[in-house]
Amino acid sequence: MPDRTPYVAANWKMHKTVAEAAEFVDALLPRIAATQSDVAICPPFTALSAVVERRYGTAVKVAAQNMHEEASGAFTGEVSAAMLAELDVEAVVLGHSERRQLFGETDEALARKVPAALAAGLEPILCVGETEEARDGGQTEAVLERQLQAGLAGVEGGKLGDVVIAYEPIWAIGTGRTATPEQAQEVCAYIRDLLRERGAAADAVRILYGGSVKPDNATELMGQPDIDGALVGGASLDVGDFAAIVKAAG
Ligand code: 13P
Repeated sequence: MPDRTPYVAANWKMHKTVAEAAEFVDALLPRIAATQSDVAICPPFTALSAVVERRYGTAVKVAAQNMHEEASGAFTGEVSAAMLAELDVEAVVLGHSERRQLFGETDEALARKVPAALAAGLEPILCVGETEEARDGGQTEAVLERQLQAGLAGVEGGKLGDVVIAYEPIWAIGTGRTATPEQAQEVCAYIRDLLRERGAAADAVRILYGGSVKPDNATELMGQPDIDGALVGGASLDVGDFAAIVKAAG
């Protein structure tokens, strides 16, 4: 099995002004200088450039939180993959449950967004996850299969290893209710099985867990065999907490 470099990403959602983002990055970099893991920061669009500029010369990647699938056009309020790549942004979070639930993000759009991101040289971080209702109804695997099939439909087998998957059970996001390491591992192993059906690169794909990851549960979650890192929301807003989670990844 190929070694997978641990990966910890900070999803700031709609938090931090440019000034706050800059202050955070300046405080974070010295604290994580020794990490062997991949680290990404996902600021709001307005703070992307400030974070990009401050992290030059470090291994920290910068990711946007969304993008449009078209290269350009009459899509008021949207941003394309090329516009992000021009800023030296390296990655993009796609299909976050908040986008799916609050802003009408569809599997059909994601089927086009993921290949569009790859074509522009951006690493897609494709988010999948079930609602509490789906879990209680025994539908977790069916939901994940549908989301992954759609999100990866346009990805050639050879490109699969460039995609990162984030498993974020919706009932664990921002609730303080973390999936147990066993629950998270079980689903991430299932996701890897689904990826194996799509190509040999499945063992190289990083699968992150997201949902109330904190410094005190990060080690155990990321210690599971199929969990390669974390997509961190609330705890990523605090530089001490986020640095502690990066440290837990190794
Ligand atoms: P919390 O860590 O705040 O639960 O958010 C998780 C998340 O949605 C990361 O994308």
